[in-house]
Amino acid sequence: MERDRSAPVVGLDVPAEVGMPVEEIATPALIIELDQFEKNVKTLKDFIETHGVRLRAHAKTHKSADVARYQMSQGGACGVCCQKVSEAQALVSAGINDVLVSNQVVDKRQIRHLAEMAKSARVMVCVDDADNVDDLARAAQAADVEIGCLVEIDVGAGRCGVRPGREAAVLAGRIAQARGLKFAGLQAYQGSAQHKAEFETRKALIGEAVRQVRETVDLLAAEGLGCEIVAGAGTGTFALEAQSGLYNELQCGSYVFMDADYQRILDENGEPVSMFGNSLFIVTSVMTSTLNATMINASGTIHGLFVISKAGWMKLNTRQIAANTPMNPRIWFLRFGNANTSRSTKNANGSIRAR
Ligand SMILES: Cc1ncc(COP(=O)(O)O)c(C=O)c1O
Repeated sequence: MERDRSAPVVGLDVPAEVGMPVEEIATPALIIELDQFEKNVKTLKDFIETHGVRLRAHAKTHKSADVARYQMSQGGACGVCCQKVSEAQALVSAGINDVLVSNQVVDKRQIRHLAEMAKSARVMVCVDDADNVDDLARAAQAADVEIGCLVEIDVGAGRCGVRPGREAAVLAGRIAQARGLKFAGLQAYQGSAQHKAEFETRKALIGEAVRQVRETVDLLAAEGLGCEIVAGAGTGTFALEAQSGLYNELQCGSYVFMDADYQRILDENGEPVSMFGNSLFIVTSVMTSTLNATMINASGTIHGLFVISKAGWMKLNTRQIAANTPMNPRIWFLRFGNANTSRSTKNANGSIRAR
């Protein structure tokens, strides 16, 4: 007999429901620790307000319209970035109205989708190729929209982008001439600096990026092309870009959940950077510990996995654990009862609340 799916069954359709104690979550489940999540969002909001820069939060971290909406309504974000047109579409159709695809979009169909999207949201994209500018312009004209373009310059990451200076200026001029496109500024993301552990290494790499951005901005200004947006920066280096006086739109993504590697990078005093904390976890259960290893019901390469057991929260260092993580885990927002208890000994005494 067909089961009535209008009333989801906890443990089958959903891992938990609002009001349930944390230890009753059907595992594995991807959860957000709400206190820390909100703290991370507020910390970066305070930072951008103090430093007079914008935040365009990178949605690659969460790929969630709910989180993006929260970053925009509560976290000071002017919009979001994403890496693919399909991600942008998901966000725009959920009501996010300002999206930068922080990548090159070269497939003609994807370009058409990008132009369609610009009917209901502010849409921008990165470019590093003259033919691509022409393709984007044609699609924008056909859809009767405007697509904002950031000229991406390679400031050391060796990933995408034209050379700073003259090459960038030539491309910017082509965009400015193209009907349907708007030259919106520069994309200058130094990705290879983000996870460098030593502060001085990150500082030197961003210092060099800033020098190249300055050269390009000055050249563009001399040609009458102002940069409304100078974009870049991630969770590892954003303070350096913000202090440059040049970058005005930060693209931090990981800050909202954080990851284990970012917690290993050091500040100027050689101490771990402590601005943000982990807020995303997989809750899972110990299935057996009869062999030398403890097996839990999750999979993938996971750093700092937290397991709920009868004793409370327990942190495992286990990696590459096989079994049955669902392909599309639901995200649950949790608020824990006692904020003063350290996570490794905390009893699972929170309860689940909806966002
Ligand atoms: C273009 C761009 N901007 C910003 C970010 C965000 O970096 P993070 O997650 O380190 O904050 C990324 C990350 O890959 C990126 O590719």
